Amino acid sequence: MVAPDEAAMAARDAAKNAKSLDELRAILEKFNGCALKATATQLVFADGTPGAKVMFVGEAPGRDEDIEGLPFVGRSRKLLDRMLAAVGLDRTSVYIANIVPWRPPGNRTPTPQESQICLPFILRQIELADPDILVCLGGPSAQTLLGIKEGITKTRGRWFTFNTGKREIRAMPTFHPAFLLRSPLQKRFAWRDFLAIKKALAG
Ligand code: URA
Repeated sequence: MVAPDEAAMAARDAAKNAKSLDELRAILEKFNGCALKATATQLVFADGTPGAKVMFVGEAPGRDEDIEGLPFVGRSRKLLDRMLAAVGLDRTSVYIANIVPWRPPGNRTPTPQESQICLPFILRQIELADPDILVCLGGPSAQTLLGIKEGITKTRGRWFTFNTGKREIRAMPTFHPAFLLRSPLQKRFAWRDFLAIKKALAG
């Protein structure tokens, strides 16, 4: 097992070398610096269309995603797909990934160390996918990518600036679909956020 600091450094070097999303996926397949890889069934890299105007980033794959090798195929999928449809989008018109591309055992939250090791990869993935709008699904995604300390209830629906490495784009945190399944009353806020995203896409 590689020491965490070394793993984070190796991740930064490896991610930098990826010239395309296919290369990044291949590099991740070979990367052994994150212990989650050993317990996961497979890498969950992305779904949707690279180069789409909007990119969604969740937290980590769950059981179903681990089996299928695609993000958001489990319980959260239906709700996410309905939210996309409500603003005229679908899976083919967006690009979807997670902060951590391997399922944490038992669907536990990734540790800060695991997220930090995987961070260079998702940052490079965003840079290479080059969306106009980044949507962080849930607090951990927003905190990791946007560097914000406040919780999701305070930050959802607000526009932030995100530097992809290539350019500055708009970024918005919104509630995670899994949270909305547990707290359906909050759906009206997510609805507002999706309308704001729709407006931004049109503008
Ligand atoms: N939750 C996430 O954050 N990502 C997935 O891919 C599935 C559930």
